Amino acid sequence: MSTNKTFTMIKPDAVADGNSGAIIKMIEEAGFRIVALKKTKLTAERAGEFYAVHAERPFYNDLCKYMSSGAIIPMILEKDNAVADFRTLIGATNPANADEGTIRKLFAKSIEANAIHGSDSDENAQIEGNFFFGQVEQY
Ligand code: GTP
Ligand code: MG
Repeated sequence: MSTNKTFTMIKPDAVADGNSGAIIKMIEEAGFRIVALKKTKLTAERAGEFYAVHAERPFYNDLCKYMSSGAIIPMILEKDNAVADFRTLIGATNPANADEGTIRKLFAKSIEANAIHGSDSDENAQIEGNFFFGQVEQY
């Protein structure tokens, strides 16, 4: 178990808009340490695998199309209470409901193109980190 880690990815809208540097700065200033980071692109199939939990939702096909529409930046992050603190930093799924100063309030365009992902549990953080990075060396 790695209860002090979470997984995130900067989504295609934020990467395409040139906001990844500003977002990573906010993440580091909030006390998260970057354990792993890369720039990559998902196929629609891989996006579908990542969001398989939402397969029955009406927005699933659009979500897979959007998440495979451009480059993303996945990261594994480390901090005490990482999962909960990171969800606080990114704000609500719908930027219209996100608190002032959160990443989604600042950078998200819509409930779908909402700039960034954050794992919702320690278990999913581990599964999602493995999905992109497999076993990681710690530096
Ligand atoms: P993630 O950190 O990306 O998992 O977001 P979340 O945990 O805040 O939301 P959730 O897991 O419920 O939804 C996953 C993603 O699906 C969201 O981040 C959005 O990109 C997209 N999404 C969620 N709800 C809607 C919706 O009602 N309509 C559309 N078009 N997309 C949605
Ligand atoms: Mg989620």
